[in-house]
Amino acid sequence: MTQDSLLHRFPGARGEWARLDGPAGTQMVDTAIEATRAWSANGNNANSGGFFPAAEASDEIVRAARAVMQRLLNAPSDTFVFGPNTTTLVFSFTRALARDFKERDRIVGTKLDHDSNVAPWAMAAHDNGAEHVLADFDPETGRLDLAAVERLLTASTKWVTVTGSSNLIGTMPDLHAITKLAHDAGAKVYVDAVALVPHRSVDIAAIGCDAMATSPYKWYGPHAGVLWVEPELLASLQPYKVRPASNEGPKKLETGTPNYEAIAGVVAAADFMLQQGVDTMADYETSVFGPLLAGLQSIDGVTVYGPKDLIDRAPTVSFNIADHHPDDVAKQLADRQIAVWSGNSYAVEVAQHLGIEATGAAVRAGVVRYVTGADVERLLNAVSDIAES
Ligand SMILES: Cc1ncc(COP(=O)(O)O)c(C=O)c1O
Repeated sequence: MTQDSLLHRFPGARGEWARLDGPAGTQMVDTAIEATRAWSANGNNANSGGFFPAAEASDEIVRAARAVMQRLLNAPSDTFVFGPNTTTLVFSFTRALARDFKERDRIVGTKLDHDSNVAPWAMAAHDNGAEHVLADFDPETGRLDLAAVERLLTASTKWVTVTGSSNLIGTMPDLHAITKLAHDAGAKVYVDAVALVPHRSVDIAAIGCDAMATSPYKWYGPHAGVLWVEPELLASLQPYKVRPASNEGPKKLETGTPNYEAIAGVVAAADFMLQQGVDTMADYETSVFGPLLAGLQSIDGVTVYGPKDLIDRAPTVSFNIADHHPDDVAKQLADRQIAVWSGNSYAVEVAQHLGIEATGAAVRAGVVRYVTGADVERLLNAVSDIAES
């Protein structure tokens, strides 16, 4: 059965523009917009730990958000940390972990990752004399071979950090297998699930990883970040924090006052994902993305990076048009009211490994739940025109 685009649920996506910029951030779903508005209007804007109803409501919205994240990601316990975005949370997390890093400890990352899963670990390792090494992916297929990770594992490896899905080329590595490999070698696993959660149902308990982050603004919610940490690990962490703040549970990593209005929106966005069913949404996305991927590959002068098929990948594709700078292509598409991104999209290692960093990297287009077949057709026609020009 074909599904409709659900465009009516996304006021921000209803204009003339073809919004293929979803991998950088999605439009909010109506219920998340309303939840954010309602929170701001209901008089509950207070703070945590007070003795009056608005303060209790502030604590309650955070509890509700942890509970819905538990349902969305099937985490074994209530240790979801909220913050402004994933990058900030990863810097806080690695800074806390780094207190135990020792000389010659090893952190293994991958070249498939967004820089928020590279730089924080590299800096934490560097400051403590530990080493940070990156597993190669295959530049032809865009796939991350298990052997490439396995080769780097040593008895001193403390963490393996891996993306759930590349934000530039879409590849979804085998998280179950990588986690098992890492655990067998005595290392813990952090998964950057920012580009995965919008497109696949994720089961933390089944994957068995030790920490994972996701950003609700990539799945129709407000700008925020969510970090899940395995309970025993969280209990042992000593994050940088102010002294009066709680030492217990996720609050110890939530520096400062929570963004309650965003957290109210996160609850609604996660509810939307659960009600729709992420795998059902993924079926819709694949039906729209298939023609995009095939269409780009059929245009003379277009080079598509990463996986050339629909297996284990997000509906995100990066490409170049011969003799055109990616920024120039993005501008020409913008002239036709088609929104895409150009550049490395912070996937610095990916662009370098593909050999395109020095030439402006690539143009990136992504399908999310409100993108239609008509949007894809407009993009393909425009790319054909530019390629012929
Ligand atoms: C795969 C991936 N990881 C991490 C991030 C960083 O997320 P945030 O903007 O929430 O810090 C992004 C943002 O685009 C991303 O695509």
